[in-house]
Amino acid sequence: MEALKAINTRRSIRKYQRRKIPSRVVKELIKAGANAPSSFNSQPWVFITTTDKNKMKQISEYKSQRSKFMADAPLLIACCYDETRAKTVHNPENVACAVENILIASNAMGIGTCYIGAFDPEYPEIEKSIIKAFRLPKHVKVVCLITAGYPDEKPKPKKMRKLSEIWKNEVF
Ligand SMILES: Cc1cc2nc3c(=O)[nH]c(=O)nc-3n(C[C@H](O)[C@H](O)[C@H](O)COP(=O)(O)O)c2cc1C
Repeated sequence: MEALKAINTRRSIRKYQRRKIPSRVVKELIKAGANAPSSFNSQPWVFITTTDKNKMKQISEYKSQRSKFMADAPLLIACCYDETRAKTVHNPENVACAVENILIASNAMGIGTCYIGAFDPEYPEIEKSIIKAFRLPKHVKVVCLITAGYPDEKPKPKKMRKLSEIWKNEVF
């Protein structure tokens, strides 16, 4: 799939076929993430993949109803950064760049994904459950999770903001 099409047709997919994603495909997705830009080329990211339903269920317990589907995903990726690689305020942004690459690469390869928020100041249990499930050391911080699998739904078109609202030329 050409790049623009992969970007412009990406949608959050929350219902998956049972089919597993082959490990060579998962490797391609992680490589796409690793090719993202990062501050001072620090590449601070660490991706932890799991197909373990128990882990998924444990974490989903602390998420709202909307995100319970994650327990049924064929693959879950914890997207983290290693503080010892780069002590910078940009670490979450670095990981976010890599995450978007993974979402787009997934779409290009026929795989559906959904970005799942990994922390909420009001619900610290979410982050705690991720730290526990993936045995994250103190210097590794989670930014978000990605669920992935072959799609079993086609989301309705979403409402987009007008270009004139989000694009200003020269001045605000
Ligand atoms: C920072 C962030 C947090 C998100 N958290 C969740 C989440 O916890 N659960 C979920 O189902 N979707 C989550 N999403 C996905 C959004 O709901 C989705 O991207 C948005 O509704 C637009 O739809 P689209 O991805 O199909 O374009 C999150 C997306 C972002 C960028």
